[in-house]
Amino acid sequence: MRTDLMKTPIIIDTDPGIDDVIAITAALFAEELDVKLITTVGGNVGIENTTNNAVNLVNFLGKDIPVAKGADQPLLNKLVSAAQVHGESGVGGYHFEAKENCTLLSSKHAVEELRDAILNSNEPITLVPIGPLTNIALLLKMYPEVKNNIKEIVLMGGAAKGGNMTPVAEFNMFVDPHAAKIVFDEQIKIVMCGLDATLQTRISTDDIKEIAGYGKVGEMVSQLLSHYDSPSSTENYIAIHDLCTIFYLTRPELFTGKRATVNVVTEGEASGCTITHYNEDGHVHVCLDIDVEEFRHEFIATFKKVNEKLEA
Ligand code: RIB
Ligand code: CA
Repeated sequence: MRTDLMKTPIIIDTDPGIDDVIAITAALFAEELDVKLITTVGGNVGIENTTNNAVNLVNFLGKDIPVAKGADQPLLNKLVSAAQVHGESGVGGYHFEAKENCTLLSSKHAVEELRDAILNSNEPITLVPIGPLTNIALLLKMYPEVKNNIKEIVLMGGAAKGGNMTPVAEFNMFVDPHAAKIVFDEQIKIVMCGLDATLQTRISTDDIKEIAGYGKVGEMVSQLLSHYDSPSSTENYIAIHDLCTIFYLTRPELFTGKRATVNVVTEGEASGCTITHYNEDGHVHVCLDIDVEEFRHEFIATFKKVNEKLEA
């Protein structure tokens, strides 16, 4: 359990996406975190839907957090979506109550909003990318001065072993390997919540039934997860990949890992592979194991608490 009382200022870059929605919801109600901005990227589904989903979610939760639309396509490759997993909308069959005249959506591009938020922050910002890294790569290339005020990048993506898009590549890295290479080659501290850890997040159908009883947020989460039959899920368990980044920030003791240097393959059959070289001088902390039972308990407790706050 964290002991520091200061909230960690974070920016979430996301392609909602069912597990993104769950991660963002947990982050917006976490006492340890101060979500400054949400930026969207094309990934699970196209940029219009990922952006609509982010705005509708923030509205649904009654939060006043700016959302900025980012890159619709990877740097060089053509977007390969995961609509077969998340539905064409990106949120399965779930329908957010739409709110008119939404002022949450910035008129500026996500990369400009990222630059402004980072340079104007009194505290170093933690970036939490949970989709393809296109916006983050553009930010670091266009405005390298932001690196002076980035504490670390806690991302969902990659794998020391295996893959869920190909035998050797995880989706976020596979979609935009060129962006991933730019980000991993930077000497910024990175926490890689890859498949090695995220596939251990085994949320059961019983857990989903329990969550369904937690008001409108529980109904949303259970409906989303009922649709989300991620190919990386096993038996009756569902892997909630993106939530690992948020729990890493709020409950770091749930995770163990090793330091490494990570080289991203950008061409050919292994494109998107995050080749992981363990070494004590590496700037990447690769999460390899989680406390599976405690993660489940934290998942359930989180949405019980969110509901209590929403119904207060
Ligand atoms: O491989 C899992 C990742 O790809 C998650 O971020 C999920 O939302 C999809 O974007
Ligand atoms: Ca995602």
